[in-house]
Amino acid sequence: MSDWDYGDSYKRFPVERDETIALSDGSFLMARDITDGLPEFMCKADIIFTDSPWNTGNLRSFYTKAGRGLPESIEEDPFGQFYDVLFDCIGNIKPRVCYLEIGKEYLGECLNRMGKIYSKVTFYNSTYYHKKDNLCYVVQGSDKKKNWKYDGLDEEDIISRIAEDEDYSCIGDLCMGRGLVALAAAKNGKKFVGTELNPKRLAVCLERLNGLGITRIDNTDPPENKVTRLRNNLGLSRAAFSRKYNIPLRTLENWEGGVTSPPDYVISLLYQVTSMKND
Ligand SMILES: C[S@@+](CC[C@H](N)C(=O)[O-])C[C@H]1O[C@@H](n2cnc3c(N)ncnc32)[C@H](O)[C@@H]1O
Repeated sequence: MSDWDYGDSYKRFPVERDETIALSDGSFLMARDITDGLPEFMCKADIIFTDSPWNTGNLRSFYTKAGRGLPESIEEDPFGQFYDVLFDCIGNIKPRVCYLEIGKEYLGECLNRMGKIYSKVTFYNSTYYHKKDNLCYVVQGSDKKKNWKYDGLDEEDIISRIAEDEDYSCIGDLCMGRGLVALAAAKNGKKFVGTELNPKRLAVCLERLNGLGITRIDNTDPPENKVTRLRNNLGLSRAAFSRKYNIPLRTLENWEGGVTSPPDYVISLLYQVTSMKND
C-alpha cells in the first residue's frame, strides 16, 4: 500500500474517472477534474460548501497524490487559473449560498471573487483537524443576509452546522476529498452532488457512505457511461478512440464526463462497432 492509497478503500469501492456514480438516496458523485468541465448533475446543488486547494503548492500536491501532473490548461498560473475555473463553476451553478474554505494567503482573493457573484459576502474564522493552531477561513456568499454563529468553530463543525441549519434540497461540493460534506448531508437525510479529482479519495467517501447505508445503484445507465463502456470494450484509450472514429477528443471527454449527451445515433453506431469486433 502506498502513502496515497488512503486505506485501500478503492479496492473495496472501485471508482473510475469520469463515470457517474448514482447513489441509493438520489445523490450523485464523480471522480472528475473540474478543469475538464462539470457534470450536469452538479447543477442540482442549491447550496455549495467546498474546501478546494488553497494555493499552488497545495494544488500541485493534490495532483501528485492523484498520480497526475497539473493539466496544461492551468500550467501558466496554476492557482489563479484553477480559481478561475472554480469560480466559473460556482457562477454556472449559482447556488443560493456558497461557502468556500481558504487559508490566509488567498482570503482577500476569495472574498473579492465571491463579491462578483453575490451581494453579501462575509467570512468566519475557523480551524482544521480540530487543532487551534491550524487556522483557516470559511467565506460565505449569498444574496440574503445570514446570521449564523459559526465564528471560531472547526471546519468540520461548520460543515455539520451548515448541513443542519441551511434550508436546501441538495448540497454540492466541487472538491469532495473523503467526503465531509456528503457525510454531513447524509446524516441529515439530505441529497448531495460532488466532484473530486482523486478516485482513491472518493472511494473513501463511498466506503463511509456505505457505512450509513447509502450504496451505489446500478440501474441508471446514463448515455455517457455507455460510451465509456463501449470504448473500454474496444480496448482503446480516449485519444485512440477519438482518432479512430474521428470524434474530437473534447467532445468525447464531455460525453464520458456527462457534460453533454451523445446523440442516440452515435450510441447505436458504437454498439454496432463493438459487436462487429466481438463477432
Ligand atoms: C482540502 S481537500 C478537501 C477535503 C474534503 N473537505 C474532505 O472532506 O476530505 C481538497 C480536495 O480537492 C481535490 N482537488 C484538487 N484539485 C481538484 C480539481 N481540479 N478538481 C476536483 N477536485 C480537486 C483534492 O484531490 C482534494 O481531495
